[in-house]
Amino acid sequence: MAKTSFSCSACGASFSKWSGRCEACGEWNTISEDKGLAAGGPAKKSLGAKRGRAVTLTDLAAHEAPPPRTECGVGELDRVLGGGLVPASAILVGGDPGIGKSTLLLQAAAQFAHCGLKTIYVSGEEASAQVRMRAQRLGLAKAPVKLAAETNLRDILTTLEQEAPQLVIIDSIQTMWVDNVDSAPGSVSQVRAVAHELTSFAKRNGISVIMVGHVTKEGQIAGPRVVEHMVDTVLYFEGERGHQFRILRAVKNRFGPADEIGVFEMTGQGLAEVINPSALFLSERGQPAPGSVVFAGIEGTRPVLVEMQALVAPSPHSQPRRAVVGWDNARLAMILAVLEARCGIPFAGLDVYLNVAGGMKIQEPAADLAVAAALLSAREDVSLPADTVIFGEISLSGALRPAPQTENRLKEAQKLGFTAGIAPSGGKSVSVEGLTLRNASDLTGFVGAYFGAG
Ligand code: TYD
Ligand code: MG
Repeated sequence: MAKTSFSCSACGASFSKWSGRCEACGEWNTISEDKGLAAGGPAKKSLGAKRGRAVTLTDLAAHEAPPPRTECGVGELDRVLGGGLVPASAILVGGDPGIGKSTLLLQAAAQFAHCGLKTIYVSGEEASAQVRMRAQRLGLAKAPVKLAAETNLRDILTTLEQEAPQLVIIDSIQTMWVDNVDSAPGSVSQVRAVAHELTSFAKRNGISVIMVGHVTKEGQIAGPRVVEHMVDTVLYFEGERGHQFRILRAVKNRFGPADEIGVFEMTGQGLAEVINPSALFLSERGQPAPGSVVFAGIEGTRPVLVEMQALVAPSPHSQPRRAVVGWDNARLAMILAVLEARCGIPFAGLDVYLNVAGGMKIQEPAADLAVAAALLSAREDVSLPADTVIFGEISLSGALRPAPQTENRLKEAQKLGFTAGIAPSGGKSVSVEGLTLRNASDLTGFVGAYFGAG
């Protein structure tokens, strides 16, 4: 009898026995039995002698070099892709349901088609007429994109062989199924098999394929993480429902820098690119207020200014609350501990809320000093000058470490009308015209200089 195996629909880890909680990612009720290939599935032909032949690197002559990348003209998308679409690549676009993946990809399909790529948009979720209606609403009704509504992967691949497109969009992998896997669409084994078939088809035929993957909370449907390792590029489309901003973030890219972001705004006519995100993120900022600090960050290759907001208030609970939106919880706990241990500023008995304005998610350690400043400013009820940006990493000893790309951060700040920056001393000395850089050597010195305590 064949050995049974189990896998987690959230992270794809496999196990030899079932359990209620995945040991790899900690999710509950996500483990289910893998259904293998059905008996009598199509036999694989043996490889021809030419296939799998090894070639030395220098033998790859110029005529075998891949054709150049295609830029679609939407700068925010091209940059996240690493400078345009690479031929014969597999791209996964993950995101919460309803965040705007179909909208983004339909617009991208139209753009790439206008640039001369033969494009097919395959929807497994909507009928062709519905996709056309959406295209009409987005003003793309005349775009030379072919539409197909199909979920059987074998039929799709047959169509692709006939049509020979250069770009295929599959919306979404959770709705597609292959007939030699014996389980429902959306299960871990189906999603893996579909992604594998599509990826190898793309590589064999020189087609780029973009797959949509919904991030799901239920255990029965496999999430995009299950196929991340198979594809060349993984992009996540993020944003808060209540906000207009959407951020396309590269978390893996074989053809360009990871961590690159593209910023879009959801409008009545679909997604519009945001060329200057800093101006957008700071646009709602009012008068200087205690707890508000502007952090000069770097996302990928681009500087982005965001406002960090903190609120510190006496806690009615025995266990004070620590709530964070847009930053790491553990990192906040660390900053609070360092402030207490190294500067003697306790937060016990106080509720602490931290929010990154505009629905942005910050991952850089260089945000430490801005967070500490926001917390102190809220706690002491002192506002920092409104024309100042802050950045720098805090170590457990209370020392400050300079952040990379100081000059880019300061230039962006200067462009947006800021006249001062606070950053750790050390590192390269830089000067930006019209902006005063104040150095802080350690956290105690910083607290003393700006909050008169410590
Ligand atoms: P959609 O692309 O269908 O999301 P996904 O494919 O990720 O599930 O986007 C759906 C949301 O986008 C929906 O709530 C409405 C909003 N939307 C707009 O605000 N403007 C538009 O022009 C379109 C097409 C959608
Ligand atoms: Mg959709």
